[in-house]
Amino acid sequence: MLETLLNDVQTAAVLCNQFGDSGKGKVIHALAPWADVIARGTGGNNAGHTLILNGQEMVFHLIPSGIVYDHEGKINIMGNGMVIDLEELCKELDQLDTRKISYNNLMISQDAHVIMPYHISQDQQKNQSLAQGGIGSTGKGIGPCYTDKIARRGIMIGDLYDVDRLVKKIKKAELFYPEQKIDDGAIDDFIQKIKPLAARIKPFVRDTIQEMHQFYNQGKKILLEGAQGLLLSIEYGTYPYVTSSDCSLNGTAAGVGLSARAVDLPLGLVKFPFMTRVGGGPFPTELGGRDQEEYCQQPGRTLESELQLYEISSTREFNLESNQVRYDRRHPAILRMMNDSDPCTKAVGIRLAANEFGATTGRPRRIGWVDAVAARYAAGINGPYFVLTKVDCVADTGHFNVCYGYNTNGTISPLFSRDSEALRGVSPEYKQYEGYSDLRDLTSYDKFPQSVRKAITEFEWFTKGKVVMLSTGPKDNQIIVKEA
Ligand code: IMP
Repeated sequence: MLETLLNDVQTAAVLCNQFGDSGKGKVIHALAPWADVIARGTGGNNAGHTLILNGQEMVFHLIPSGIVYDHEGKINIMGNGMVIDLEELCKELDQLDTRKISYNNLMISQDAHVIMPYHISQDQQKNQSLAQGGIGSTGKGIGPCYTDKIARRGIMIGDLYDVDRLVKKIKKAELFYPEQKIDDGAIDDFIQKIKPLAARIKPFVRDTIQEMHQFYNQGKKILLEGAQGLLLSIEYGTYPYVTSSDCSLNGTAAGVGLSARAVDLPLGLVKFPFMTRVGGGPFPTELGGRDQEEYCQQPGRTLESELQLYEISSTREFNLESNQVRYDRRHPAILRMMNDSDPCTKAVGIRLAANEFGATTGRPRRIGWVDAVAARYAAGINGPYFVLTKVDCVADTGHFNVCYGYNTNGTISPLFSRDSEALRGVSPEYKQYEGYSDLRDLTSYDKFPQSVRKAITEFEWFTKGKVVMLSTGPKDNQIIVKEA
C-alpha cells in the first residue's frame, strides 16, 4: 500500500501541520525503508522524535531517526539549517553506541550553527519570565543561536576546526552577551570542553549541501524529516509564540540545500480528532482555554505528578535502554475524565489517554480539538496531503469535535489569523461527531466507523486537502494508507 503512495516519488517530506508533536517519528520510520537518504533541516534539540524499535521506545532530538537504518547503508544528514548542541549530539551518539546502532553514514553540515553555553543561559533566563507572558521556550538555546546566525555572528560547525577563528568569533559574542561574563578564562574552558566533542564528530562533517545535490541528481530517494510544526514556524506560525526556525516545507527543504519544488510528496501530519500545544501562545480549540494553559505551565507538572493527583498507579522503568513511566492508558479514571463535562478535566483525561507529555521537556501538553481552520491554512503552505495520527487515542469519548470556523463577536470566519491577540479572542465553531471505540486493530480505511469517515470526508472538503494515511497506534503495522 505504501508502495502505491510512493510510486514515482523521489523526495518526500514528513512535516507537521499543527504545533508539533504529531508523531513524525513513527511516519518517518515507516517511510525510511524506502529512502536512501534521510535528512533534517531545521531546529535542534528542542525537537523530539519518538519511535518504537523492537518494542523499545527511542527518542531522537538531533540525529534523524532514520539512523536506525544506518547498517543498511542509508545516509542520514543533519542539514545546514540546524542548530547543534555538541554535548547533546555526543550524548545521542553514546546512546547509539549503547544500543549498538551504527552511524557510519551520518553526515553533519559544516554550515549548521553551534549552540553555545551563553545561548542556553540566555534562553533559560528568558524562560523565567514565562509567568509574565514569555513564550515558554524549551530552554535549549535555540532562539539565541538562530538570533546570532541572522545577526551574522554565529559559530558554525566548520569553525570548530580553526581555533583562532573560533576564539575571534566568541570574543565578538562577548559584546552581545555582557551579562554572561565571556572572559578569556571562560573562552579557554569552553575550548577545552569542546575539543574532544569536535574531534569526535569531525569524521562526519561535510559540505552536505553539495552532497545533497549529488544524491538528488543521482536519483536517490530522499526523505526530509521536519521538526516542530507549521503553526510554530517563525515565518508562518503564531508569532511571537513560535520557534526560531521555519519548520514549514519551505524551511525544511532550504535547511538541507534543496528547493521545496524538489519535494514530490510533502506529508502534513495532524493529530485527529484532538491536537496539542506545548509552551505559551494562542490555541483556539483548547479545552479549558486560559485555565488549562496556566495549569500546564505551572512548575512541577509532569506525567507522574498528574498520575499521582488522580490516583492512577504507575511504575517507572529505568535502565540504560529506557526511562519510561508505565500506566494503564485506559484506566477507568482516565476514561471517566475523558467523558467529563468540565473541559479542563476532559483535557487531563485525553492527555493521559494519549500520553501527551513533552519528549524534550516532560511538560504536559495542552489539549484541544482538531482545528480544520488551522489545518487548511497549513496545507496552503505545506501542500494538500494529510496524515492523521493518534486517531486511536480518543476512543471511548461520547463524541468528538472538529473546528470549522472562528467566531469573533458573532462573525464567523473560516480563515486562520497569524495575529496572536486576535487568535486569542476567537471562539471555535465546532461540528460534533459521534464517538468511537478502539480502532487499533483495523486494517483498512473502509472498516473505520462511519462517524470517523464522515468527519474525515468533511475535513478534506473544508481543507481542500487529501488524507493519505492514518496512524492508529504506536506499532509499525498500525498505519493505514487511505488512497494513493
Ligand atoms: P524553542 O524552540 O525552544 O525556542 O521554543 C519556542 C516554542 O516552540 C515554545 O512554545 C516551545 O514549547 C515550542 N516548541 C519547540 N520545539 C517543539 C517541539 O518539538 N514540539 C512542540 N513544541 C515545540
